[in-house]
Amino acid sequence: MLAVHEDRLAAGVARLGSENAFEVLARARALEAQGRRVVHMEIGEPDFDTPEHIKKAAIDALYDNHTHYTPSGGLPSLREAIAEFASRFRHMTPEWKAENVVIGPGAKPVIWNTLSALLEPGDEFVYFDPAYPAYASCASYHQAVIHAIPLLEARNWRMDLNELERHVSEKTKVLVINSPHNPTGGVLTKGDLERIAQLAQRYDFLVLADEIYSHNYYLDSEYISIASLPGMRDRTIVVDGFSKAYAMTGWRLGYALMPEYLARTVTLFNNNTFSCVATFVQTAGIAALTGPSEPVTRMNEIFRQRRDRLVEGLNAIPGISCTLPEGAFYAFPNITTITHDDRALAKFLLEEGGVACGGGSSFGPAGKGYLRFSYAASLEDIDWALESIAQTVPKFTKT
Ligand SMILES: Cc1ncc(COP(=O)(O)O)c(C=O)c1O
Repeated sequence: MLAVHEDRLAAGVARLGSENAFEVLARARALEAQGRRVVHMEIGEPDFDTPEHIKKAAIDALYDNHTHYTPSGGLPSLREAIAEFASRFRHMTPEWKAENVVIGPGAKPVIWNTLSALLEPGDEFVYFDPAYPAYASCASYHQAVIHAIPLLEARNWRMDLNELERHVSEKTKVLVINSPHNPTGGVLTKGDLERIAQLAQRYDFLVLADEIYSHNYYLDSEYISIASLPGMRDRTIVVDGFSKAYAMTGWRLGYALMPEYLARTVTLFNNNTFSCVATFVQTAGIAALTGPSEPVTRMNEIFRQRRDRLVEGLNAIPGISCTLPEGAFYAFPNITTITHDDRALAKFLLEEGGVACGGGSSFGPAGKGYLRFSYAASLEDIDWALESIAQTVPKFTKT
């Protein structure tokens, strides 16, 4: 029998990151199994049910025997629906075509396969800090040279663009942006996007714009995608998906829009990894994009109410201050007057107070001294969590 030796593992494995939220979730579930009440604000998934018409489309597809392989890039009818929806939502001229669309089991594998199609050892890769861990994990796996631009609380969690300018050059291959942003809820302004677009054209790099939270957007002004700015259509990869907008995290369906040459190559990666996404899930995706938009609007209205309640409540707790998130469903309060050890406070809040949240430093060094709360919890749960945080925090300072 073959012995199990860790030294058999490829060296690149050591360069992979992971999402800490899943570890917090496991501990929270263990506490619940012991009979403790826990409010879940650690994981980035809407607590709503998937809208009925989407579920029905999947069930009908199963009964109609849509249970076989599809092309690796996705069902042509879904790719067409995505091209149409995404072009309309982002005011694209010329519009994207089905050939620009790649589908995957969630946006995360689409990010992985797209970056894998682009990055070679030594390529310069620029992103921001704090960030969703998947980008740097993939870039470091491929041995790219990584530059992380800090996001600034004082700029409502937008990048310092002068700092960005200092870190991009002809050597830059890909810049990642994420607006609305996980973990802070920050949104880039049109001015920010225009300046990033100028840099991309000056230095000839690609922009991977992770816009998965573009449908969880609370500003009165219209959402702007960098892809719609002059000269950017052919140098932008727009990542989006169904998980957040339609409460479909467990269905695993995401997509990206990109230049055709790249779409063909990312499709080759799909072909070599998962072959294709479950067919009836793809059919449900068509129903999501072409069906009524009220469920999305309704969920967002509820998210906005929760955001307001949570941020107001956090700001009322001595030692905590929180900017107002403009998108996504995360609040990222500053806890530096209590402690800089955000992970220790997050652990304490869970163990002592039954409130599961994330330490900001799990998203990168610039997140140190902050916590991430996902407000995918009911108003009642948020009130309970706020009460518990208010009572638990003073005990932490005494330890
Ligand atoms: C910024 C960001 N991008 C992409 C994803 C991936 O979403 P999914 O793979 O569920 O489509 C997430 C999920 O948390 C995210 O926060």
